[in-house]
This record gives sequence, structure tokens and C-alpha cells, in this order.
Amino acid sequence: MSGPEGEEFFRWLVAIRRHIHRFPELAFQEERTADFIQKKLSELGLSSRRVAGTGVLCDLGAGPPWVALRADMDALPITEETGLPFASLVPGVMHACGHDGHVAMLLGAAALLRKDPPVKGGVRLIFQPAEEIGGGARAMIEAGALEGVSAIFGGHIDRHYRVGEIAINEGLICAYTDRFVIRLRGRGGHAAWPQEAVDAVVAGAFLVTAIQTLVSREIHPAYPTVVTVGRFQAGTAHNVIAEEAFLEGTIRATHSEIRKKIHQGLRRIVRGLEELHRISGQLEIIEGYPPVINSPRETEVAREAARRVVGEAGVRRMPHPSLGGEDFSFYLEHVPGCFVRFGAMKAGREHIPAHSPGFDFDERVLPLGARFFFEVARLALEG
Ligand code: NI
Repeated sequence: MSGPEGEEFFRWLVAIRRHIHRFPELAFQEERTADFIQKKLSELGLSSRRVAGTGVLCDLGAGPPWVALRADMDALPITEETGLPFASLVPGVMHACGHDGHVAMLLGAAALLRKDPPVKGGVRLIFQPAEEIGGGARAMIEAGALEGVSAIFGGHIDRHYRVGEIAINEGLICAYTDRFVIRLRGRGGHAAWPQEAVDAVVAGAFLVTAIQTLVSREIHPAYPTVVTVGRFQAGTAHNVIAEEAFLEGTIRATHSEIRKKIHQGLRRIVRGLEELHRISGQLEIIEGYPPVINSPRETEVAREAARRVVGEAGVRRMPHPSLGGEDFSFYLEHVPGCFVRFGAMKAGREHIPAHSPGFDFDERVLPLGARFFFEVARLALEG
């Protein structure tokens, strides 16, 4: 950032981010955020429309072709503990993933595109609700966000990289994310007469341990894979043998065959448990986000845009895919595109992960993100 204009632009972006940060809203409840976005767009002389409840679409220039730029806008059910002067004023809700920054970046891109519009084609800004719980991208697509769109770009603030770095990889960068639910049903009884009962706690504990062997013993070690049991509930009292146990977890895979193998393995283990512990088991697998797969051409366009913003040295590669989920993948099922990571490591908070009460990022990333979006849209339309 240099010169008075750069400084002014930076302050404008920071003010937007902090306003959104103060008033976070959960998935599909982003009323106030959507109103604020529309107000800012109209201050720039741009008209926008509300779709899918709290989503906002804004078209700049004349498509087709349209190039879409996407920001997510929802917060998380977390009580903020950052101690920042602009901390959340809404109890129990916090922007702990940086989506407040994503909105500011995309509004910044709108300002830059307004001043310097593309000669050919148009740019569609997609402000999307409900990334965290999924469903937001799908709702926007159903509302026509991708009509006439030839490519889409998005990005996420990332504390693993420094400000001035943008990480870009071709191919799969975010995992398949599925959820599983297991219900075990034994026979309850008196804690002192195990011979008359079938203990769901013991069977469930064996199950948790058995599940650990799926990734460690059955999956090729070169493919990142995770199976986590995040929830295990059973029992009612210290002297009662539990009749039921409830387990819930997540599967992350980076290859469709491995994902299938994990699903099959889980089914097999639950079936085996019935025999092993005389218990009945019911497994349900709920398919989640598809993986984010960056297409070759759009990845190249994103790299060139990043070079223009942060220079060759700032363009990084991720050493491995993330096992996080990202619902940007739904757009990529329809159109090619690229999802990047904006370095935003904050001094003193390097080790505080996203989705935690102390999360914050370095705001100097905001103008870089805005300029990246501006450049990538123009480059994609020129190509
Ligand atoms: Ni996020």
C-alpha cells in the first residue's frame, strides 16, 4: 500500500471488515450483513439483488461471458475471546473463520472494477450465505448465480501463510467430507449383573478403537485420509449398563476410491461388531461436500493474477491438500474455477486456528485480496 489513495482504500476495507465483525450472523440468517453489502454496493453506484434469502448478486459490465467472484459471509456459534476493540457484539456468535474479511475483499474488488471495468464481458459478484453448514452455495446456484458464467474464483484467508503470499494449487485442494452416525443397541441392565445385559459402552469403545485401523492399516499412506469420531454418547448412571450408544464422526478423503473404501470399511466394522458383541448396529453415512478441484486453465489465470499483486516470490504452493471442506466445490461441479489461499498470518496469533474463540487475521491481506479478485476477473475475461 502506498500513496494516499492506497491508504484510503485500506482504511475503507478495514472499516467494512470491522463492521461485519461486530455484527456476525449465523448461516442463512445474514440479513444485516446482506443489507450492509447492498448498501456499500449502492454507495459505489452498483445495483444488486437479493437471492436465496440472504445471498446478494451484483453484475458489473455486460456479459456473457460472465466471470464470477465469490465471498462467503456467515459466522460461527462461538463466543469471541479475542479482546479486540471491534469484537463481536452478538453473544455466542463470532466471525472466527475470516468470512468478514472475504466480504470486505469482494466489496474492494467491486470498487476497483467500478473504476476500471472490464472491456469485454462482465463480472458477477456472489455474496454467499451459509458456507459453514453447507447449503449456501447450492442455494445460490439454484437461484441462478451461475447462469451464463464461464469461470468462477474464490479464496480463503489462511493463517499458515504470511501477508503478501497467495497459495495456489491445481487439482484437488480440499477433501471429500462425509458424516457418519452409528447407533448401537444392546440390552440395559444392572451394573452388577453384566451376564444379563449387552453393554453398549464396551461395544462402542471397541468400535472407536477398531475405526482407528481403517486409515492406519487399510489406506495407502500416500493419500491423506482422516476418520474422526467426534461424539460418543452412552449411559445414564454409574450403576446402570447402557442399552444404547450413539457415535458420530467425519470422514475426509482426497480420492474417490479411498472414500469408497472407508465407507465399505465402516460398514464391515459395524457388521463385525454385531457378531463380536451381540449388539445391533446401525450405520448411516451422510455425504457432504464434494472436493474442491481447481481446473488447469483457471489455476494458471489465478497464478498470473497473484503474480501481479504479490510478485513471483509471493505465489506459493500448498505442500498437500487441506482435509477441510469448502462448499465452493458445488460451483466447481458446474463451471471451471480456482480457489486460492490468502496469507494472513497475524503476529502473536500464529497458533490460534480458525474456528476458535481467539482467531484473528492480519488486515493488510484485505487490499491484496481485493486486487487479486480484480486482476483475476479481468484476466479471465481477456483470455
Ligand atoms: Ni471459512
